[in-house]
Amino acid sequence: MIRDLWRWVRDPVALLTERAAVAPAFELSLWRRAVVGYCPEWNRVVLGDLATFRAAGSLSGLTPYLAGGVVHSDVPEHDERRRDLNPSFHNRSLAVLLDRLDDVAARCAPAAEFEALAWASDVVRHLLNAAFFGGRLPDRLLRAFLSPLHRPMPHPLLPRPRLFHRIDRHIEAVLADAPPGTLAAALAGMPGAAEEIRVALAAGYDTTAHTLAWAAWHLAGAPEWRTPDVLPAVLDEVLRLYPAGWIGSRVAAADVTVAGTDIPAGTLVLYSPYLTHRDPGLWPDPEVFRPERFTAAGPGRPPWGFLPFSAGRRTCLGAHLARAMLRAALLPCLDGRLTQLGGDPTPRAGLTLRPRGPLRIAHNRT
Ligand code: HEM
Repeated sequence: MIRDLWRWVRDPVALLTERAAVAPAFELSLWRRAVVGYCPEWNRVVLGDLATFRAAGSLSGLTPYLAGGVVHSDVPEHDERRRDLNPSFHNRSLAVLLDRLDDVAARCAPAAEFEALAWASDVVRHLLNAAFFGGRLPDRLLRAFLSPLHRPMPHPLLPRPRLFHRIDRHIEAVLADAPPGTLAAALAGMPGAAEEIRVALAAGYDTTAHTLAWAAWHLAGAPEWRTPDVLPAVLDEVLRLYPAGWIGSRVAAADVTVAGTDIPAGTLVLYSPYLTHRDPGLWPDPEVFRPERFTAAGPGRPPWGFLPFSAGRRTCLGAHLARAMLRAALLPCLDGRLTQLGGDPTPRAGLTLRPRGPLRIAHNRT
């Protein structure tokens, strides 16, 4: 039954890559039966049919950081929560935040020599604090809340009831008197707002920080891409190569057949942006960093073949916020010369995908 569990715990990306080379969908014997697929049709069905593929019982329930709020709800409640939450996270609603994000990012511009993961974690924490609370949440508390997400397994999975209680009380206090133009102000009055914010902070922290670290690393290695107008293509290519949400999971509520694979009710159904994004049938030379794939003259994205933020009605709530934070944090890096000093960008999978690191970079301002 647990044949694959040991390799899953040690190096799940290697296990997935090995099996994916043999079949487009395959079974894993973990602590329970799981099936993994990565072709566009698999993604379309698993992410499109919310009644059959449910969050309850999926991997997000294993960590207290994600076992709540919209992340862990199912239809019909899920649709209602998204209806309440989505408007505050649209690009046009976030426009009021952009100056605030730029100010924070300018204060956090990297030093002459920096380690990208440490820098990215600090700047993203400050950006989240600014976006949600206008900087009013005590930084020490936010750091204490978020730092277990950076620690090796099983730390992100351990219950921390006192810490969660403290952060909830502080979030409620900000919600009661929210600074105008913040996400707290936009969400104040919504039922369960404090829990939704706590879960969003956790969902948006290491995902954005790790993406930012890889982006800084690649920008340091590719001076021809260091201009603001092509930054969106660079970010898409970083998100393709290193989708922080490398694996997503659902539980089948009924017997179902997906892309030719029969799946009994109760099976853990996994989709993998990592495998989809490295499928040579969808992305030529998938291991190569090539942002021109995403420029206007590029080949375009294969439908259901590019999902760094997932897709469908459960698509990442914070995708626009993440892109805004990444852009704000990277703009100060474009001002001057970046050089890779040394490090290891190889992806390593935990709760999210992260660079093995360290990633040491020099930043010489002009
Ligand atoms: C580069 C940064 C980010 C990446 C790569 C990312 C990726 C993802 C992915 C792949 C999912 C779908 C998970 C699944 O299928 O189970 C997701 C969901 C989610 N993300 Fe993000 N995310 C990022 C940043 C953020 C930020 C900044 C927030 C803050 C609001 C956020 C909040 C959420 C929430 C609340 C969900 C659950 C949506 C739902 O189930 O309806 N994420 N994210």
